[in-house]
Amino acid sequence: MLTLAVETSCDETALAVYDSEKGPLGEILLSQARVHSPYGGVVPELSAREHTRNILPLLDRLLRDTSLDLRRIDFVSFTLTPGLILSLVVGVSFAKAVAYLLKKPLVPVHHLEGHIYSVFLERPVDYPFLALIVSGGHTDLFLVEDFSRYTFLGGTLDDAAGESFDKVARILGLGYPGGPEIDRLARRGRPVYRLPRPMIDDGSLNFSFSGLKTAVASLVTERTDLRAEDVARSFQDAVVDVLVEKTVRAVKETGVKRVAVVGGVSANSGLREAFRERSVKEGFEVFIPHPRLSTDNALMIAYAGAERFKRGVTAPLDINPEPNTPLQEFCKVWS
Ligand code: KG4
Ligand code: ZN
Repeated sequence: MLTLAVETSCDETALAVYDSEKGPLGEILLSQARVHSPYGGVVPELSAREHTRNILPLLDRLLRDTSLDLRRIDFVSFTLTPGLILSLVVGVSFAKAVAYLLKKPLVPVHHLEGHIYSVFLERPVDYPFLALIVSGGHTDLFLVEDFSRYTFLGGTLDDAAGESFDKVARILGLGYPGGPEIDRLARRGRPVYRLPRPMIDDGSLNFSFSGLKTAVASLVTERTDLRAEDVARSFQDAVVDVLVEKTVRAVKETGVKRVAVVGGVSANSGLREAFRERSVKEGFEVFIPHPRLSTDNALMIAYAGAERFKRGVTAPLDINPEPNTPLQEFCKVWS
C-alpha cells in the first residue's frame, strides 16, 4: 500500500511517499528556519504563508524525483494535531484536496505518534517499550504497549526541552532553532558553571525546564567574563542529566528495558552519548533515530499513517485540524 504523507504542524513543510511493504520511496522537506530566525522563534502567520507558498511546488518536485504517478497512491496520511493551528490548516486542507481529487481515503496522524514511530523506519522495536519524546513543544514519557496503546507516565510542567534550548540560544544571541546551535557550541565548551537540575530527585516522572532557563539568564546578566561555549555546555549537560535520570527512573519503575528517544532534541549529540553510556550501565536498550528522522519529517507521519490505515481507520472529508489534542484522546477517537 502506498501513502502520500503531509506534515505542516510547525515550521517544516514535509511530504513523503511510503510503501508499507517496501519502505520509503521518497521524501522532501523545506525548513523555514531562515524565515523565522530574525524573530528568534516561529511566527505562526509567516509559517502558514510559507507552507501555502511551498507545498504544491514541493509535491511537484517529489513526484518528479520519484517518477511517481500520484494516482498510484492508496491513501493520504496527514498530521491532524498537535501544532500551530494556522500551519496545520494548510497541510490538512492540502491532504483533503488530494484525497478528494483522487477519491482516496484520508488517514489522520497524531504528530507525537509520528515521532514515536520514527525509530521503526530504521528497525522495529519489540513491545512494550518506553518513549521519551523531546521536541520543541513536548517533553513526555509514554509507556507504549502496542500501536495506539499509550500510557502517559510524565511530562513537562512548563517549558519543553526543545523550547528551553531555543530560549537559552536567544539569551546567548544565537540563531533559531537554538538546539543545533547550542549542540555545536557545547562540543567546544566545558561544564564549568553550576546550573540547577530541576525536579531531578523529586520521585516523579515530570519535568520542569523554565527555572533552568532563568538560571542561565541570571548567570549571563551577572557575569561579563563568560565563555558562550562553556555556558552552552553547562546548560546542555543540565538538560541531558534530567532527561536521562527521569528515563532511568521510568525503566526501573516499569521494568520495561527498551527505550525510544525521539523528537528534535534527540538529535542532540550530548543526549545521544549520555543515553548510550547510561543504557549500557543500567542494562536497557536504547533506540534513537538518525538525526534526520529525529526532527520533524513526513516519513514518520507516513509510517504511523500506514499502521493506522492497516487497522481500518479513515477520516471524513470535513475533518478539521486540532491545535492540541492529547495522544490518548486522539487514539480513543481514531481506533
Ligand atoms: O520535533 P521537532 O523537529 O519539532 C517539534 O515537534 O517541536 O523539534 C524541534 C526542537 C527545537 O526546539 C530544536 O531547537 C530542537 O528540537 N533541536 C535540538 C537539536 N536539533 C533540534 N535540540 C538540541 N540539540 C539538537 N541537536
Ligand atoms: Zn515534532
